[in-house]
Amino acid sequence: MLERLNPAAPDALLALIKLYAADPRGDKIDLGVGVYRTDEGETPVFAAIKEAERRLVTSQASKSYLGPEGDMGFVEGLMPYVFGKDDPSMGGRVQGIQTPGGTGAVRIAVALAKAAGITRVHLGVPSWPNHAQILADLPLEMAPFDHACADGTANADAVLQVIRDARAGDAVLLHGCCHNPTGIDYTPDQWHAIAAALAASAALPIIDLAYQGLGFGMEEDAHGLRAVLAAVREALVAYSCDKNFGLYRDRVGAFYAVAQDGSQLPAIMSNAAGLARANWSMPPDHGAAAVRLVLEDEALTAQWLDELGTMRCRMRQVRARLAAAGRVGTLDLTALGSQNGLFSMLPLDKDRIARLRSDHAIYMAGSGRINIAGLTQGNLDKFIGALADVAG
Ligand code: LMR
Repeated sequence: MLERLNPAAPDALLALIKLYAADPRGDKIDLGVGVYRTDEGETPVFAAIKEAERRLVTSQASKSYLGPEGDMGFVEGLMPYVFGKDDPSMGGRVQGIQTPGGTGAVRIAVALAKAAGITRVHLGVPSWPNHAQILADLPLEMAPFDHACADGTANADAVLQVIRDARAGDAVLLHGCCHNPTGIDYTPDQWHAIAAALAASAALPIIDLAYQGLGFGMEEDAHGLRAVLAAVREALVAYSCDKNFGLYRDRVGAFYAVAQDGSQLPAIMSNAAGLARANWSMPPDHGAAAVRLVLEDEALTAQWLDELGTMRCRMRQVRARLAAAGRVGTLDLTALGSQNGLFSMLPLDKDRIARLRSDHAIYMAGSGRINIAGLTQGNLDKFIGALADVAG
């Protein structure tokens, strides 16, 4: 039976981690998978999380099951950051569950959408490759549209057209901030236009907020999501703490449903819990419990926000240096200065990406995506020189 299986291609992005690790060159640069790095190239545990973990070890009396919804203190503690502190439950219309990372949240969101009758999901491309993989696995039809224009700005006309033309049974999957892989976000005005179009559309909005706080700040990065939620009757939100709390391998995320009316939430959330049970039964506890402890403590919250601010500031500095390089061979790096978050894309073909790896020990995704945080004051000149070499 099992011999019928054909080999599946390994996930290209995750395969890069192993290729990079196996490269013996001392000056190698990893611009692959999306993890934050300091200027020393480290991905340390946040000090606020370390302290929360210490407290957790001392105070946690049991590791008995919590249920498919996970740690509800964590889920509710995040809501003021996501939906706004004035009315985090939007008048009782929002409820959530904990998920294994943002991936688990996306999985629940699209599976729940499918169970509710969604048959097609519009997705701006390029997108995070796992979006398409999850849709294909369910399966749900994916309808691609262009996310960005050639000049490095967001293609608002494309998304507005898709939303206006949407029919019943359609969903639109949007990145809340720090678009992965392009770093190109909708402007506040464009978000307001998208929100107005969604309010008049049959499409169900699904918003993936995986990088809150890595663009302009926790409040600023929720602007687009909140503009949409203020306008529409219902929506689904996938949230990740893997980046903004540095908890990658602990897999910390949340799924939220925004219902037309709070009375619909028990039915919606019972379906979400059923999907969670069938997929992973219960989410892993540790990382979410640590986030909860951070959010419950004013001093730890301030420390976490400060650490997040340092990350954001460093990525802006790297972007400024890339933008200042301007034209490098056939590439123009100027637009990278006004893009957001961990990622930007360089228009490099496969041969040039392969040469960067073989000749310069620089590792990036086959799409041309680079992880901005992989660049440091120590390796930026080497990177720009290597780009000049391959794109000259
Ligand atoms: C990335 O895009 O690099 C991250 O979101 C990690 C992942 O799971 O792909």
